[in-house]
Amino acid sequence: MNYTIATLAGDGIGPEVTAQAIKVLEAVGSLSGHQFEFNHSPVGAVAIDQTGDPFPKDTFKNCENSDAVLFGAIGDPKYDNDPKAKVRPEQGLLRMRQMLGLYANIRPVTAFPQLIHKSPLRAELIEGADFIVIRELTGGIYFGTRGRSEDLNMAFDTMTYTRPEIQRIVKLAFEYAGRRDKRLTLIDKANVLASSRLWRETTQDMEGNYSDIAVDYLFVDNAAMQIVQWPKKFDVMVTANLFGDIISDEASVITGSLGLLPSASIGLSTSVFEPVHGSYPQGAGKDIANPIATILSAAMMLDHLDLTDEASTVRAAVDKSMADNFVTEDLDKEVSKKCSEVGDYIKNAILKA
Ligand code: IPM
Ligand code: MN
Repeated sequence: MNYTIATLAGDGIGPEVTAQAIKVLEAVGSLSGHQFEFNHSPVGAVAIDQTGDPFPKDTFKNCENSDAVLFGAIGDPKYDNDPKAKVRPEQGLLRMRQMLGLYANIRPVTAFPQLIHKSPLRAELIEGADFIVIRELTGGIYFGTRGRSEDLNMAFDTMTYTRPEIQRIVKLAFEYAGRRDKRLTLIDKANVLASSRLWRETTQDMEGNYSDIAVDYLFVDNAAMQIVQWPKKFDVMVTANLFGDIISDEASVITGSLGLLPSASIGLSTSVFEPVHGSYPQGAGKDIANPIATILSAAMMLDHLDLTDEASTVRAAVDKSMADNFVTEDLDKEVSKKCSEVGDYIKNAILKA
């Protein structure tokens, strides 16, 4: 088969880590006979510099016409200290989500045995933790009506959800739970918010269709506490946009593997695969970034394209690089392999598979 992949490398270390994932996909292609065609487009600060727009029309078209999008990172410190900047790289991200209808952000969190000592939590709490956070990504308070009063002394944002928006993401979450340990937790604030009560009502109505799945309901404050107290309790979590933003960041650090975590944003047209970490501007151009999160994002992409054996081959090669301790400086200062060397090592492990 032929697959076209839009590659949006973006800012900071984005281009370096994306290049390693491309290497890996090319190795997968040469082994399996599949062809991947990579079409590069600018996004984020790089795109603002080139076109004035953080998500240019041509970038959108490239995404729309591709089978999947491989995304690096966006963000540049030159915008962070300028709250009045009219265009910001992050706007590109929000527009991409909206225009591609990326309604679900999926972040699997796994404890890698080699990294457990990096966790802020005690090893026995973390060992064996393995869960997924599914965050609604195109609705809620991120996209609701907002405004400011004329005298500028009042401002508001609105959290709005419709039943169909909730149904489509909760359905996806039930399906994920069905392929995993069959436990689903809805995280909301139904004791206060009307929109959360609609999430709860909708999920309760759907429970009957998935009788093999145990559903649990948690208020978001309680969930934030339990996730650090008892991370192994969770299998699949599903939640609204803002709650998911917070919970997924919290979740990503507890296993000590932030630099290794991949994510997928499932779309109505094309889905996007990207590392959870950011653009790490201090590391840009130094060939020191850890490419594993992006390579594992490419593995999620392969799963999404129904190339599940190929995805397993990539994960096995990543495991091998860590087992052999062939790793970048964030994982082992002494070993301190370069980003491109780790990419080559994983590529070669695939070619030998
Ligand atoms: C994320 C980020 C974005 C968000 C920002 C950069 C707009 O924090 O992807 O989680 O809040 O969604
Ligand atoms: Mn966030």
